[in-house]
Amino acid sequence: MPRGQARGRRARDVLTDVTEPGGIDLDVTVGDFATTVVKGSFTLVYLAFNTIMNLTTQAQQVACFRNAATHLEPGGCFVIEVGVPGLQILAPGETIRPFHVSETRIGFDEYDAVTQSMTSHHLEIVESRAHRHSVPFRYAWPAEFDLMAQLAGLTLRERRGGWQGEPFTSESPKHISVWERPLDEGG
Ligand SMILES: C[S@@+](CC[C@H](N)C(=O)[O-])C[C@H]1O[C@@H](n2cnc3c(N)ncnc32)[C@H](O)[C@@H]1O
Repeated sequence: MPRGQARGRRARDVLTDVTEPGGIDLDVTVGDFATTVVKGSFTLVYLAFNTIMNLTTQAQQVACFRNAATHLEPGGCFVIEVGVPGLQILAPGETIRPFHVSETRIGFDEYDAVTQSMTSHHLEIVESRAHRHSVPFRYAWPAEFDLMAQLAGLTLRERRGGWQGEPFTSESPKHISVWERPLDEGG
């Protein structure tokens, strides 16, 4: 099973736990995370596991940063975990990067460097038949996300290469970035 699906299932299990009678007492809002408004302000807003890339236009990603920022209290943080575009791994002129090849599963990312779109293709081979599942994404460099944060009035507090606090380097395949809503917005 593709890793994303496994995680999605876990997320659904959590949703079931919190919505069933006797479940955890938690407010759940289902909606588009680029535009949905919930009551209150928060110390933390986060999007893990490449989820920002599910927004497939720059305008939607910018809207998401703005939406996150409006839900933060001063000093609160917006955190994303997202892959660094794998363009350095591509040979000149190539657009395809395999991420899993086995007898029963083939996975590859297809890059379009003009539109910054990236499609992850998953092919599962069951009894000699291939079942395809393709997911569209929009990739961006960390610097573009920093600019989105700046447009939303946030400042970069920290960027790490992993959840264990690994340094972010030119070889990091992903980053965990933390932007903060300034305490004193009067400047
Ligand atoms: C990469 S998966 C992460 C799943 C889960 N959050 C986890 O970490 O295990 C991204 C999820 O975001 C959902 N999604 C995509 N675009 C969305 C949007 N604009 N608003 C709300 N959810 C969205 C997808 O359906 C998918 O379940």
